[in-house]
Amino acid sequence: MPRSSPGARLIDDYREFFATRRSIRELRTDPVDEDTVWRMLDIANTAPSAHNAQPWRFALVEPGQRRAALAERLSKRLREHLATLGTPAAEVARQTDRTRRRLTDAPVAIFVCLDESAIQATAQPASAGAERTLAIQGTALAAGWLLLAAHAEGLGACWYSTPLFVPDEVRDTLALPPAWNPQALVLLGYAAGAGTARARKDVRELTLRLS
Ligand SMILES: Cc1cc2nc3c(=O)[nH]c(=O)nc-3n(C[C@H](O)[C@H](O)[C@H](O)COP(=O)(O)O)c2cc1C
Repeated sequence: MPRSSPGARLIDDYREFFATRRSIRELRTDPVDEDTVWRMLDIANTAPSAHNAQPWRFALVEPGQRRAALAERLSKRLREHLATLGTPAAEVARQTDRTRRRLTDAPVAIFVCLDESAIQATAQPASAGAERTLAIQGTALAAGWLLLAAHAEGLGACWYSTPLFVPDEVRDTLALPPAWNPQALVLLGYAAGAGTARARKDVRELTLRLS
């Protein structure tokens, strides 16, 4: 059926597809094959973006020394942060171990970055902030598309915002190109559990209907 037919749905069960996606934080260590990883990245790369600029960049970091080094640095930063909050030692140990383990053990780790050099140049200073926001929005959509692609592939995935808080550690340890600004870490793999379904507010409470 042509896509333009009124009421024609391309996918009948799309609601179930979206309803069953959830953040999966506990992953099995079984590897994900490379073709699957590229299929998901290809899908992320189809996300819409302002000016079709594709401001996203992906750093696919294999398990190994570099990942372990980054996990160590991130858990150290987390330990320092939790100490400033007066968090009890047992809780500090639990959270830092979890952070290190998740990053070290995930079969696939993808850092989604914004390429600062892909931000549309503008002669109008007033528009510069908006252009930067547009590029961040596009990058976020690519990360969201990646989560959906993982779900379609039967994989578990979770978006971690850690890179936003420690961009220098991420850039430095991964030796990213200088213009790549890490925005999100997506860890993927086969799910070790079903995850938790998180309730949503009713969209009617979040919507202003105007005439
Ligand atoms: C922008 C963004 C940042 C997030 N950061 C984190 C994070 O740092 N750690 C984490 O465990 N989950 C993170 N998540 C996952 C959210 O907690 C999760 O999407 C939300 O609780 C809804 O649950 P669901 O994805 O299972 O529907 C993030 C999600 C988004 C979209």
